[in-house]
Amino acid sequence: MTEEKVIPPEEKPRQSYSCCGSGSDEVKSTTSEQDMIQSEKIRSDIRKQYSEIATGKMDLPSISEQADSQVAIQSNQEGYTDYSREELSSIPEESNLGLGSGNPVKLANIQPGETVVDLGSGAGVDCFLASRHVGKTGKVIGIDMTPPMIDKARANARKGGYFNVEFRLGEIEHMPVADNSVDLIVSNCVINLSIDKAQVFKDAYRVLKPGGRLVISDIILNQEFPDVVKEAFTDVPGCVSRAWVKDEYLGVIKDAGFKQVELVESEIITPRNQPKKTESGAFKAKLVTYGKEVNVELTPEEYESLRTTIMKGHIRAYKPN
Ligand SMILES: C[S@@+](CC[C@H](N)C(=O)[O-])C[C@H]1O[C@@H](n2cnc3c(N)ncnc32)[C@H](O)[C@@H]1O
Repeated sequence: MTEEKVIPPEEKPRQSYSCCGSGSDEVKSTTSEQDMIQSEKIRSDIRKQYSEIATGKMDLPSISEQADSQVAIQSNQEGYTDYSREELSSIPEESNLGLGSGNPVKLANIQPGETVVDLGSGAGVDCFLASRHVGKTGKVIGIDMTPPMIDKARANARKGGYFNVEFRLGEIEHMPVADNSVDLIVSNCVINLSIDKAQVFKDAYRVLKPGGRLVISDIILNQEFPDVVKEAFTDVPGCVSRAWVKDEYLGVIKDAGFKQVELVESEIITPRNQPKKTESGAFKAKLVTYGKEVNVELTPEEYESLRTTIMKGHIRAYKPN
């Protein structure tokens, strides 16, 4: 049996070079070296951003603050999550930072005694919700690469007395979890952020037991963003800016070996306000992501396309027996 590898919190997460496919540190060409540097910059920006959110140095813009912006497409907003009042009152208040895009635990049919892993666990919201379903005989493991998030989640676990929840510092592309040891993987608005989504699903396949399942919530695109939006979002480390088109997303999960890969629930997220037209007939759009705003002008066709592009959705998939 493979030993479980636990990375102590004080250890800095290992840099991953899996974006180049081989997992090797060896650099084969200038292009792959540049890609690698760029990918690691994105990862480091993402970690910095969530460190600032965890420590209260960065606030997410609230929906009301966006109310008078023109086409506010926000990379994250409280309105994306989908928890009942009863669920929220059953967990430590500070565990829900409003960073999710759904409620994967609700759709996961968790059974007592199961081992559940949450990818990108943040302050622990979905781990604490899963905790009561797995009960005394089960276990929940949250994985996050941002040390202040792990600290916050551990403080929440202590506060709530969660004996069956554990948080591990690590990257979801190379999880600190044993092979074939997990019944269920959940994740809430995280996999989009990964610099190597295919590797996340390869590793998910490795840690799941045969017959194990994956239930993830994420931002998924119905179609490609208009070019002008794509360009504005280049290198922006947000869940919307890094979202993938549905078929591509489901494709990498299938390629990792999963079966019955399905988008089980989805909802289109339309831009918040009807934008005003400029004299030239273009629409002014404000793309809002963490701490950043990008203003772009859209043609009427681009605006129409954008209205139906962004979805929040849940994907379910199984590792074959
Ligand atoms: C949008 S937040 C979601 C947090 C949590 N799932 C929730 O719903 O509140 C993304 C989280 O994933 C973590 N994260 C992003 N990319 C990661 C990666 N490649 N490996 C591990 N954690 C990652 C971030 O540190 C952050 O805590």
